[in-house]
Amino acid sequence: MKVSTKVGRIEPSVTLEISAKAKALKSAGKDVVAFTAGEPDFNTPEYIIKSAEDALRSGKTKYTPTAGIPELKKAIVGKLKKENGLDYAPENIVVSSGAKSSLYHAFCAILDEGDEVIIPAPYWITYVEQVRLAGGVCKIVNTDEKSGYKLTSEQFERAITPKTRCVLINSPCNPTGVVYTKAELLSIAKVAEKHGVAIISDEVYEKLVFDGEEHISIATLTPYAKDNTIVINGVSKTYAMTGWRIGYMACPIEVAKAVSAMQGHTTSNACSFAQYASATAINGGEEFIIDMVKEFDDRRKLLYKGLTQIDGVKVVYPKGAFYVFADVSAFFGKSYQGKKITGSVSFADLLLGKGVAVIPGLAFGDDNSVRLAYTVSTADILKGIDAIKAFISELE
Ligand SMILES: Cc1ncc(COP(=O)(O)O)c(C=O)c1O
Repeated sequence: MKVSTKVGRIEPSVTLEISAKAKALKSAGKDVVAFTAGEPDFNTPEYIIKSAEDALRSGKTKYTPTAGIPELKKAIVGKLKKENGLDYAPENIVVSSGAKSSLYHAFCAILDEGDEVIIPAPYWITYVEQVRLAGGVCKIVNTDEKSGYKLTSEQFERAITPKTRCVLINSPCNPTGVVYTKAELLSIAKVAEKHGVAIISDEVYEKLVFDGEEHISIATLTPYAKDNTIVINGVSKTYAMTGWRIGYMACPIEVAKAVSAMQGHTTSNACSFAQYASATAINGGEEFIIDMVKEFDDRRKLLYKGLTQIDGVKVVYPKGAFYVFADVSAFFGKSYQGKKITGSVSFADLLLGKGVAVIPGLAFGDDNSVRLAYTVSTADILKGIDAIKAFISELE
């Protein structure tokens, strides 16, 4: 059957392709260190599972209000106030089936056909596909080592056209792990205000920050930013709940109403008992998060150190999320077992032959690099680094 032009132009996922190859190798009995998974390798904490179980047993299995149950909205409002310094009413919150869903609804709610969205690269590929699906046009702004892989306010201002509708900020960032400072965000917020540009702030990795780094929500910085930002967050990364599919947005009331109306005709409410469990998660203590962040921090240091010791590999120092983004372009043009490395995809493909799976940077709009997720054990990190070293020493 013919598919629509709109959907037909979605690019196949490079991430899924390499992950599938790694899986196939694993099931064929090959030892593979997979630095590919964008999800915590921890189990959801027991108190959250128990809460879902209680919800299920007490009949919380029916439709809920489209924009979310009052208990969860209340927990989110409380969290945004206490942790982020953001004042919202429950009416400003829309709960969706994962932050990915919240993002898509946000783009649909504010973009008219042909509106431009400024996206700093490297970026999470989903933004690009979602903007296109929502009828928007991506205006990619490349960032590099010089700006610490962050969008500067000057770059942002230069990219603005009469068609610009919004800018996408993802801090901490997938795939680079960089975290924007308050001053950097403030200068972006000021440019947004000067040109009447809206902001979508994806904060799903907010709890995963290291070295005493502080996560700042851009919406807190000016009254304009508060009134013109859609804050996106969820429970996936913070509570190891990727499969539960609960995300949310905090936004101006007219956007919340529009999204709620749209959601009412697409997905309806997010999973009922997962919403109850998410309320418990958000209202619960920080103990699990502290332990998880500590473990990620140890792995981050180990992986960063290991990669920086390899001649030719240039690594962005990651201060957040659970990724390391490494520039491997020094090896382009070399060959492994007679096969030439021409870019990040062939680098990743050939490295897989050595038992290490990484995501090609092409998937994030940067073909010079690869992304490694430290969602694996320290033993695997050490094994992976040794294999990468061996791979590189065999290049001709
Ligand atoms: C930057 C970023 N935003 C949003 C999401 C979506 O999270 P979820 O839909 O699981 O809530 C992800 C997941 O990988 C992500 O990396």
